[in-house]
Amino acid sequence: MRALDISIIGATGAVGAELIKLLESSEFPVSRLRLLASRTSGGRRLRFRDEICIVEPLDEINDTQADIAFFSAGGAVSAKYGHLFAAQGALVIDNSNAFRMNPNVPLLVPQVNPNALAARPRSGIVANPNCSTIQLVRVLRPMVTAFDVHQVILTTYQAASGGGLKGIDELLEGSRAALAGRAPQCAKHFPFPLAFNVIPQVGEIASEGVTLEERKLVQESRKILGLPHLRLTSTCVRVPVVNGHSEAVYLELHEPVPLERVHELLAIEPDVRLYLDGTHEEYPTPRLLKDPTIVHVGRVRVNPQNPCGLWLWIVADNLQVGAALNALLIAKLAICNNVIGGK
Ligand SMILES: NC(=O)c1ccc[n+]([C@@H]2O[C@H](COP(=O)([O-])OP(=O)(O)OC[C@H]3O[C@@H](n4cnc5c(N)ncnc54)[C@H](OP(=O)(O)O)[C@@H]3O)[C@@H](O)[C@H]2O)c1
Repeated sequence: MRALDISIIGATGAVGAELIKLLESSEFPVSRLRLLASRTSGGRRLRFRDEICIVEPLDEINDTQADIAFFSAGGAVSAKYGHLFAAQGALVIDNSNAFRMNPNVPLLVPQVNPNALAARPRSGIVANPNCSTIQLVRVLRPMVTAFDVHQVILTTYQAASGGGLKGIDELLEGSRAALAGRAPQCAKHFPFPLAFNVIPQVGEIASEGVTLEERKLVQESRKILGLPHLRLTSTCVRVPVVNGHSEAVYLELHEPVPLERVHELLAIEPDVRLYLDGTHEEYPTPRLLKDPTIVHVGRVRVNPQNPCGLWLWIVADNLQVGAALNALLIAKLAICNNVIGGK
């Protein structure tokens, strides 16, 4: 296949930087890499393979032609520019929340619902799900396929990097201040200071008391898994971890949990590592994840008070598995399916 013309919108952000790194180390055929961001970053020089790329301000460009346009600059930027790039022929792979629930836009996790990209979508846009949804559905898919799941209840423990580079900075600066005995800074990016704290709110709280992140988890999981009535409820919590989201997930089945079968299913799931021994500190933690490209599952156990209840502890790198890597895998799937690059 021919090499591709690729644009990254939001190239200087947390997800954009991961995407450049992953593209750099991949075999992905790239003829031109165009890096776009806000005016603040215009003129910044970033290395890609053997070249130096100059970052361009998105609102100063005249042409939006590309084979693939990866968007990771927030929902407002995607909503304004996504259709422009798609109209010029690009397959837009969007990391934001702008199009995820649009019925003309596939919401794709390549290991879970690859058939959603059997052909080029009429909109020209494919949505990358929310980071906490991706790691969840990667584990839920084999469970809902094999078992009759009554409901899913989870708590997320989400890292500062889920709030972008500014989120990481705020956590690190707040931690330094606390260790130096200074008063907590005003929180700008999170609702409260995050250092040495936990915050049970990710995104705006809607009228029924459910946050945006909690709503996304339900809607997106249902769409990806093709289960519009899946009963799923969560509490999403921001924790003072730099990178890596964790989730404590409780599945209630309509039947007693066959634990060995659960182990078998997780052990054969692609790009999932199962930590079998839950009693000898054999479980994943976000800071010490050895492989940021896969989903890690530990503490797999049946509820001693309810044989139909199954607990799982799921950890993944939100910037890779939850964003940049999933976007790159979408692009690879699009190439395999001749959705792009066939000329
Ligand atoms: N972080 C995660 O774990 C994660 C996971 C899944 C999805 N996402 C989604 O991915 C997107 C980016 O997240 P992030 O964490 O990478 O955020 P980030 O670190 O804050 O980066 C934002 C990027 O967008 C650019 N940008 C901001 N306003 C712009 C504008 N008006 N025009 C052009 N570029 C603009 C910024 O450029 P400047 O540097 O010039 O300001 C920067 O490159 C968001 O929609 C987020 O919801 C994030």
